[in-house]
Amino acid sequence: MLAIRGLSVSYGKVQAVRGLDLTVAAGETVAILGANGAGKSSIVRAITGLARVAAGEIVFDGKPVTGLPSDRRAAAGMALVPEGRRVFADMTVAENLQMGGYLLGREAAVRMEAMFDLFPRLRERRLQLAATLSGGEQQMLAIARALVRRPALLILDEPSLGLSPIMVQTIYRAIRDLRDGGMTILLAEQSAAVALSLANRAYLLETGSVVAEGPAKTLRDDPRVRDAYLGG
Ligand SMILES: Nc1ncnc2c1ncn2[C@@H]1O[C@H](COP(=O)(O)OP(=O)(O)OP(=O)(O)O)[C@@H](O)[C@H]1O
Ligand SMILES: [Mg+2]
Repeated sequence: MLAIRGLSVSYGKVQAVRGLDLTVAAGETVAILGANGAGKSSIVRAITGLARVAAGEIVFDGKPVTGLPSDRRAAAGMALVPEGRRVFADMTVAENLQMGGYLLGREAAVRMEAMFDLFPRLRERRLQLAATLSGGEQQMLAIARALVRRPALLILDEPSLGLSPIMVQTIYRAIRDLRDGGMTILLAEQSAAVALSLANRAYLLETGSVVAEGPAKTLRDDPRVRDAYLGG
C-alpha cells in the first residue's frame, strides 16, 4: 500500500531523514521506532505532504504521491493523527468529528456513531469543548477524527506521548481493535515496548537512518532496541 524509496528530508543544514526505504503492505501494522529527534515525525510528515521531500519517492496505492499536496493525499486515503493531537480546541467533540468528515454528507452521522462505538467516552462528551478534554480523550478524538473518512492507511505519530499508563492501554486497545479489523497502520513511537506489542514489523531509526528492521518479534530481542527503549 505504501512504498518509500530513498527518502531524505532536510531542514536547512539538518538532515532529518537519510535515504529511507520503507514499505507497508495492506493490512499490516508497521512501527517506526526511535529516540527524540531520530526523524520519526519528519517521515510521517513527508508521507502526508506536510514536510518537503529533498530526495526519494513515495508511492501510495500504486501511484506516486511525492509532489502532491496533503489534501490530495488525504483524498487518496491517507490519514494522519499528528503528534500532540492538534484537535480543534474551541470546537466540541461532535464538531471536531464533523470537520474530519466534511466530505461525507449524510454518511458523516453514521461514521460519528461508529467512532462513538470505538471510543464510548467521546459519546458521553460529544457536546464538550475539545480544549476541556483530558490528554487521553483528546488523543481518542484525534484518532476518531482521522477515521471518520474511512482512510485506507492510518498514520499515528506518538499516540502514547504524555499519557498515563492506563490511558496508553486504552488508546492501544483501540488501535489493536482497528488492526484486528483489517486497518493498515503506520505507527511512529518512542515507546518501543508498547509499539512492538502490536506491530507486525518495525524499523528502528537513529539520527535519520534505519539501523535495524524486521518482524516485531525479532526487534523485541534486538539489543539495540532493548538497551535504548526497553530499559536494558
Ligand atoms: N521544522 C524544523 N526545522 C528545523 N529542524 C527541524 C524541524 N523539524 C524537525 N527538525 C529536526 O529534524 C530532526 C528530526 O526531528 P523529528 O521531529 O522528525 O524527530 P522525531 O523522531 O519525531 O522526534 P520526537 O520523538 O522528539 O518527536 C531533529 O534534529 C529536529 O531538530
Ligand atoms: Mg516526533
